[in-house]
Amino acid sequence: MSKKIRAAITGLGTFTPDYILTNDELSKMVDTSDEWIMTRIGIKERHILKGEGLGTSDMAVEAVKSLLEKTNTSPDEVDLLLCSTVTPDMMFPATANIISDKAGIKNAFSFDLNAGCSGFLYGLSVASQFVETGKYKKVVLVGADKMSSIIDYTDRKTCAIFGDGAGAALLEPSQDETGIIDFNNATDGIGRHHLHQKAGGSVKPASFETVANKEHFVYQEGQTVFKYAVSRMGDISVDMMKKHGLTSETLDWLVPHQANLRIIDATGRRMGLPSEKVMVNIREYGNTTNATIPLLLADYADKLNKGDNLIITTFGAGFTWGAMYVKWSLQGN
Ligand SMILES: CC(C)(COP(=O)(O)OP(=O)(O)OC[C@H]1O[C@@H](n2cnc3c(N)ncnc32)[C@H](O)[C@@H]1OP(=O)(O)O)[C@@H](O)C(=O)NCCC(=O)NCCS
Repeated sequence: MSKKIRAAITGLGTFTPDYILTNDELSKMVDTSDEWIMTRIGIKERHILKGEGLGTSDMAVEAVKSLLEKTNTSPDEVDLLLCSTVTPDMMFPATANIISDKAGIKNAFSFDLNAGCSGFLYGLSVASQFVETGKYKKVVLVGADKMSSIIDYTDRKTCAIFGDGAGAALLEPSQDETGIIDFNNATDGIGRHHLHQKAGGSVKPASFETVANKEHFVYQEGQTVFKYAVSRMGDISVDMMKKHGLTSETLDWLVPHQANLRIIDATGRRMGLPSEKVMVNIREYGNTTNATIPLLLADYADKLNKGDNLIITTFGAGFTWGAMYVKWSLQGN
């Protein structure tokens, strides 16, 4: 019997724009304070893409180029490029098509995937299948969002949370026992009522009225989203631990979506993990939606050892959530 092919993350590339929006600057724009944001959310600053005519693909392409360079991959070798985003350059064509063009990737097919803040996790799940079936050898997944393009900077309830960024991963057949071991994703469309963008889609196309009513910005009922996020991420991660016999000793790292430090802490507690095992970088980036997981993995790359047991967990608009068990395949950065 032939051995099962496992998909491994064999490289990461990231990009964040230079401009940093601090809590102090935000405090001049809306009625908020560094103290409130640090206590209630845990964010100090976020990166913002400035510049006329620049969109999500401009950040994504930088992350992809860096990934290809780091992994010595020629653009011609890429079989599939997936982009997870909630802020595509435009409604169509897919931002993935634009990224492929800008990165010189000519032999791949490419498409977008929208799963809110779970997009990168869903993307890893989808990408892994193309590798596991033996169909493809090199799949690039890039998660990128210019959240600043859909944030109302007069709304203190949302403007402190989000930031811009991009992160890409290369998936290849694993050469050993490491790689993506298992995943479990979930969806509950009830979430559409609590976190969405009201206008700009087919139900409510853009009009003078929708612009005047600020309906192209993020609408969020924070407390409801908070409660769902804590219970769903915690439960699905605990289930994944149980299924694979992982304990707080044998699980090396929790890689949680970064939306609120209190959600991250609560998820770690539900899993019985000490805080040293929970990856956190929300302070520097805020919630970068689809870029969060790759930015987090890249920031912790030099602390990770080959064979480490990781659980990646996310929660996002939809609602969407999931947990993925990964045996880390890389040693160092
Ligand atoms: C959004 C969130 C930070 C708000 O924190 P909260 O403690 O739940 O606060 P509430 O929404 O209950 O608001 C309490 C008060 O704080 C105020 N407030 C909200 N944001 C504020 C800010 N940045 N600065 C100061 N006050 C703020 C509200 O206006 C409200 O005041 P009011 O009663 O006078 O109207 C929090 O609910 C959250 O993180 N939710 C989940 C977000 C998430 O995970 N989103 C992404 C999913 S992918």
